[in-house]
Amino acid sequence: MNQTSLRDEDADHTLIMAAFGRSLDAADPFVVGFNEAILPMAISDPTLPDNPIIHVNAAFERLTGYARDEVVGRNCRFLQGPETYPEDVSRLRDAIGRSERIEIDLLNHRKDGTPFWNRLLVAPVFDRGRHLRYYVASQHDVTLERETLALLEAEQRELEASAAETQVRLADSAARLQFALKAGRLGAWTFHPASQHLDASDGCKIVFGYDPGAAFGYPEFLETIHPEDRARVVEAIQETIATGCDYDIEYRIVTPTAEVRWVAIRGELLTRADGTALSMTGFSTDITERKRTEEHRALLAGELTHRVKNTLATVSAIVNQTLRDAASMSEARDTIGARIGSLAVAHDLLLRDEVEGATIADIVTGVMAPFDDGGGRLFSVEGPHVRLEPRVTLALSMALHELATNAAKYGALHVAGGHVTISWSVGIGEGGRRLAFMWEETGGPVVTTPTRTGFGSRMIERVLAQHMRGTARIEYRDTGVVFTIDAPL
Ligand SMILES: Cc1cc2nc3c(=O)[nH]c(=O)nc-3n(C[C@H](O)[C@H](O)[C@H](O)COP(=O)(O)O)c2cc1C
Repeated sequence: MNQTSLRDEDADHTLIMAAFGRSLDAADPFVVGFNEAILPMAISDPTLPDNPIIHVNAAFERLTGYARDEVVGRNCRFLQGPETYPEDVSRLRDAIGRSERIEIDLLNHRKDGTPFWNRLLVAPVFDRGRHLRYYVASQHDVTLERETLALLEAEQRELEASAAETQVRLADSAARLQFALKAGRLGAWTFHPASQHLDASDGCKIVFGYDPGAAFGYPEFLETIHPEDRARVVEAIQETIATGCDYDIEYRIVTPTAEVRWVAIRGELLTRADGTALSMTGFSTDITERKRTEEHRALLAGELTHRVKNTLATVSAIVNQTLRDAASMSEARDTIGARIGSLAVAHDLLLRDEVEGATIADIVTGVMAPFDDGGGRLFSVEGPHVRLEPRVTLALSMALHELATNAAKYGALHVAGGHVTISWSVGIGEGGRRLAFMWEETGGPVVTTPTRTGFGSRMIERVLAQHMRGTARIEYRDTGVVFTIDAPL
């Protein structure tokens, strides 16, 4: 049944409703209160077919745009439209059907078609005989509230989405930072001077030789610093806190397993708005490898300088002594050339073995190579693996060169059938391990002790003995020259 037919068919009802309007006492304060209330209100009569409106107030007219005459006699559903949720209408119908009070927000339309959110309250009114007599309703426009709420909800959803996105980005950059710290073997730390509290990342603990799960606070940090570097480190921390200068320091630590490491620490001071120190934060890294390389390089540079000086002194001695002992300039030229050549061989050996020196076998093979005919008849070489210090390597090389030169000129290597046995052994003697070295010539011409002691013999006996801190002796036996060394290893 539509509203038009209702009005046409139920002329009686219209009359009843008009009568209700007239029955209202304009002087009754409740009537005045109802009519003049700010809140829109309506009264319906459920005893009439389709529960029509029998009275509305002025606020209702202002809200909906309908005049009282246009609505009286109609069911209030005319305010609904296609966008009104059917579930809301069902709830209303059910409550009204059960004569129950209901409060609900639903979408309505004004006469001009504009929508608004209606916070509707419908309540039944019973007469003295407990029979349902009227329904009263209030309509409150909550469009602004709903829209604001919807806006706030949308904003909140947006905020939540962006917070979630920020969270993801943060987690992502934290993961990338972790990766960078790990790849660079860096540890991160933050120190709070006021509370003396130190926060160290797992990487930082590893740098300091602690397990990632272990407690590593300021006391442990101080404890780990090498005693000789501790004062310097603490001073640098205090200076950064006092002046705000960057904290950039390299020092030694002793890990819980007593391993000495070098670490590099960089950090900066974070201050409060008033300029006072808040915290220090930065990175730590293990630079032990780099320090060892630097030390090794410095050692090599020192060794090289030392060797160059020694070589120049040796060359100078070779030239002076050879010129003094030589019978002629041409003999001097040959001898100087050969002696400097043997020096070069010794240097080759040293270069190959860096600062560690060479083995006796290497020295013998290197120096004897120019004197050997390759047939294996001239030399017998026998002895264990013994590595000598660089300066001893040099001295032994020169000594062997002199022995071989003399043997080639006057001794076993001068005649066919001559032989040189070079042998050495290591035994335990006075003060620990000792080296016994022997050069023994056989099958050569009868040997006599030379009248003059030239550079070669002096070098052999004195210099070698001094370098080896032992004794070196040349004997001119009838059978041939015998040279022996007895020195600690
Ligand atoms: C006194 C009274 C006032 C009402 N005011 C409104 C109103 O402002 N807007 C609305 O959509 N429905 C209002 N209704 C509800 C409808 O009139 C109707 O009861 C609802 O649409 C459910 O019934 P139906 O399914 O027959 O339409 C009011 C009902 C009563 C009894």
